[in-house]
Amino acid sequence: MEVPFANIEREVSSMRDVIDSAIKVVIDHGQFVSIAKLVPFETKLAEYHGARHAIAVSSGTDALVVSLTSLGIGPGDEVITTPFTFVATFEAIARLGATAVFVDIDPVTWNLDEREVKRAITHKTKCVLTVGLFGEPSLVSAAGIPVIFDNAQSFGAKHAGLATTLSFFPSKVLGAFGDGGAILTNEDELAEKMRQLRQHGRSSSGEFSILGGNFRMDVLQAKVLEEKMNFVDQWILRRREIASFYDTALAPLANVSAPKRSNDHVCNYYVVRTKQRDDLKVHLAKASIDSRIYYPQLIPNMGCAMVGGHRVFGELSNAVVASKELLAIPLYPQLTDAELQHVADALSTFFS
Ligand SMILES: Cc1ncc(COP(=O)(O)O)c(C=O)c1O
Repeated sequence: MEVPFANIEREVSSMRDVIDSAIKVVIDHGQFVSIAKLVPFETKLAEYHGARHAIAVSSGTDALVVSLTSLGIGPGDEVITTPFTFVATFEAIARLGATAVFVDIDPVTWNLDEREVKRAITHKTKCVLTVGLFGEPSLVSAAGIPVIFDNAQSFGAKHAGLATTLSFFPSKVLGAFGDGGAILTNEDELAEKMRQLRQHGRSSSGEFSILGGNFRMDVLQAKVLEEKMNFVDQWILRRREIASFYDTALAPLANVSAPKRSNDHVCNYYVVRTKQRDDLKVHLAKASIDSRIYYPQLIPNMGCAMVGGHRVFGELSNAVVASKELLAIPLYPQLTDAELQHVADALSTFFS
């Protein structure tokens, strides 16, 4: 039995009629690029997360760029962040000419270690950019320094901090039919600036007073996402059920541990920890089960981070362990019970 890592086809076929009519609405009105037409999705998204504002943008990466730009971050500023994340988190900092300061992560949640963050603060620190990895919200607070939450992997976690960014990459908890992202904030002035930045710097009075870009979400994507949001609670519930199933399957096994999760974990990924990570991946592949290594290389070791004066704070020893011992196994709401059992059996054979 083949178990792919994600199966978007199955998700779409379960709601094909709804999606077809939503897309037809957009084709019929023909306003494919329109800030006004994004509002119904933005309103729904803001309410869902308990935020005053949601700003729909072109991707999770652009959500980060717009957020950091809105805070005026640039050359000479330090942004504290995690070395153990997708490269996009770092890219946003580096693109603005700011300096990334990589701080170690917590060995249980794999999110930034708050104590280390506080120790790494200097007079140049302008912001902490923290990531809710794998679906576990990151609850960092940093002694008055603004915090931006990269929740690309933890859609549904309540909005906190100055801004929260989301990604609607197709395999995320809420996925678009292409790229998409959003920013949540409670700050009226910041929201206004973010709206300006995503639309070439254009203000509500039509002035181009600040330098922006084209970071708008397409109306087609917003419409698809608006419809898909009606299903997202049941999907998160099913994701949590599957995670509990895996927890139970792993409990009697030695040399492997299940992820420890808070009640707010949205289970974007299910990531097991074992010193035999690479052998396990091969074993699963032989049983036709796809798995992914998130992330085999720490950001500061990537070529793109070796220029620009970015710094490492401390040893990053927990991040090094994470890069060697974690493996993500298939987790999506449409997995069947037979497929789950197949994964559980393969884990059991390997570790018994
Ligand atoms: C932690 C993190 N941040 C940012 C991004 C970038 O999002 P996007 O692919 O929508 O640009 C991702 C995407 O996978 C991510 O996992």
